[in-house]
Amino acid sequence: MTVIALRKSVIKEIIGKRCYEIMHNGSKPIEACPLLKSKTMEKTEKVEYFEKSLNRHFMGCITPVLSEDGRIKSYIASIIDITETKIKENKLIKSREAFLNMLRETDHSYKELKEIYKAIILSFANAIDAKSRWTKGHSERVTNYAIAIAKEIGLKAKDIETLRIASLLHDIGKIGTYDVILDKPGRLNDEELALVRMHPVKGEEILKPVRQLQQIFPIIRHHHERIDGNGYPDRLRGEEIPFFARIVHVADSFDSMTADRPYRPAPGKEYAVSELKKYSGTQFDPRAAEAFLRVLDKSDISTALTV
Ligand SMILES: [Fe+2]
Repeated sequence: MTVIALRKSVIKEIIGKRCYEIMHNGSKPIEACPLLKSKTMEKTEKVEYFEKSLNRHFMGCITPVLSEDGRIKSYIASIIDITETKIKENKLIKSREAFLNMLRETDHSYKELKEIYKAIILSFANAIDAKSRWTKGHSERVTNYAIAIAKEIGLKAKDIETLRIASLLHDIGKIGTYDVILDKPGRLNDEELALVRMHPVKGEEILKPVRQLQQIFPIIRHHHERIDGNGYPDRLRGEEIPFFARIVHVADSFDSMTADRPYRPAPGKEYAVSELKKYSGTQFDPRAAEAFLRVLDKSDISTALTV
């Protein structure tokens, strides 16, 4: 050990003593003693330790000095006070932890917001269906059918989620339609029919302030358009109609044909299937209709497509 920097009185005190007696006030070597390690490994060894009596952190470093024949003839020992570095390191660890905690909290809040968002969408769907006993469960069933079509076609999860929200809210415009019209037991007159046919436009208007839902606006507006251009409100044709709106149209029509209405009992599944086949390419998008026919062929709609 080099003792050039030490005073003579100090030199007297340390001569003949073991390093651990001088540095750690101990009677035996510290655990992971770098000198012991260096002796075995024959290379520089470092160790960080906290000296309680001084309340400081140190780094001990031992480097063996080899003779010409390769044997260790002495060691160079250095001790560096690393307390300041340690304090900075601890501060960094703490701020990193705080940052990670903040990220975790943000993630938690984001998930909570997402849950609230989902619940609000469902509440809206329930509010639409509660308008009339004839439409009870309609939005949810249409959603299940639309998702089944989307999966059969092989749409991506992100698109299926868009379709799910659009299907749940497709009739939101009916909130502004008089209950007496929705519940009317007989056929609707021209004026009443015109009012009902306003619901896709009203639906788009209701949702317009919710910028985050803008990708579903066209689906809401055009879910009653027909491939042959005889639908409403804009009489769009074929490819002009957004594809997801064509899917919702198939799902919506199927549910209308398999559910009772105030003016008629449900025509039933057999009839609905024959109508899907008959009007595929004129009223219905063939790709969506054929996908749904395959789904219906494979499943029992009363169980497999029900939540
Ligand atoms: Fe509708």
